[in-house]
Amino acid sequence: MNIMPLMLRQMNRDDIELGMRLKQQAGWNQTPDDWRRFLELEPEGCFVGEWGGQPVATTTTCTFGPIGWIAMVLVDESFRHRGIATQMVEHALAYLAGRSVTTVRLDATKYGRPVYERMGFAARHDLMRLQGIARPAAPGSAVDPVHAEDLNAVARLDGRATGTDRSRLLERLVAEHPELAGIARDGQSEGGYVLLRPGANATQIGPAVARAEAAGRALCNWALTRCAGQAVFIDVPVGNPAAIEWARSAGLAEQRRFTRMDRGQPIEEDVQLLWASSGPEKG
Ligand SMILES: CC(C)(COP(=O)(O)OP(=O)(O)OC[C@H]1O[C@@H](n2cnc3c(N)ncnc32)[C@H](O)[C@@H]1OP(=O)(O)O)[C@@H](O)C(=O)NCCC(=O)NCCS
Repeated sequence: MNIMPLMLRQMNRDDIELGMRLKQQAGWNQTPDDWRRFLELEPEGCFVGEWGGQPVATTTTCTFGPIGWIAMVLVDESFRHRGIATQMVEHALAYLAGRSVTTVRLDATKYGRPVYERMGFAARHDLMRLQGIARPAAPGSAVDPVHAEDLNAVARLDGRATGTDRSRLLERLVAEHPELAGIARDGQSEGGYVLLRPGANATQIGPAVARAEAAGRALCNWALTRCAGQAVFIDVPVGNPAAIEWARSAGLAEQRRFTRMDRGQPIEEDVQLLWASSGPEKG
């Protein structure tokens, strides 16, 4: 029985170094910019756990109206199996309850899944992370840069796939890297969008949403061409076989899987429209 208390406090910019150390230990792909984005999107909802005065754990949240995401649940290797992650997630759940969140979601690794199952989270579907070196590919149909006037359409498309209004995340991602944001048009209407962002180990392709397979392929080929020659990761729902097939045909290979889990009100997602998740941090 451990008697050492865990102290939880708000995470701030000075803790990004800790976050980077813990994510490095876990072999994850986030950069300091990712941590800055977590802190700026939910300044009061990112937490550090201190054990005996030593910072050893992180957890972030992000609210999208009634839907909350929990992410970056990281515990220093030497401090695991003491109930730290469980207490961090309980704290995050209490924070989200205070924000009137009715559904809490997360993408679990195989290490995290048993912790969340014990806390009442249910598995919904799996995402396959594929990786490889991006080869340039002809889009097949036109993909244009995303401009400010396209942001509503991007958020609408995203909402159809994810059942969530993620406009504040999408606007932020486009503003960070406008050159890495593409939109496909189908006549007068928008057929889909894709965003990319740099990572520590590989460029992350996603989020990407497409109303039809041709648009999905065009957007993902455009994305590969934007980062040709670089290592890429893409997290594709297993329930979207067309997207998995595209990724394999582009020479990408499975690295591992995540399980999307939630607790509370069920969310209507359409994973057939989701060609790439934004990443395990926010679905
Ligand atoms: C997943 C992770 C966050 C779990 O952290 P943790 O602090 O070890 O988790 P907990 O201690 O709350 O629970 C883990 C285990 O410790 C056990 N435990 C909890 N309190 C305990 C205590 N006081 N004494 C002994 N064991 C304890 C739990 O029953 C649980 O049992 P299990 O090993 O059979 O699953 C950690 O392994 C990690 O950082 N992994 C790498 C990153 C990752 O995958 N994060 C999850 C993202 S979804």
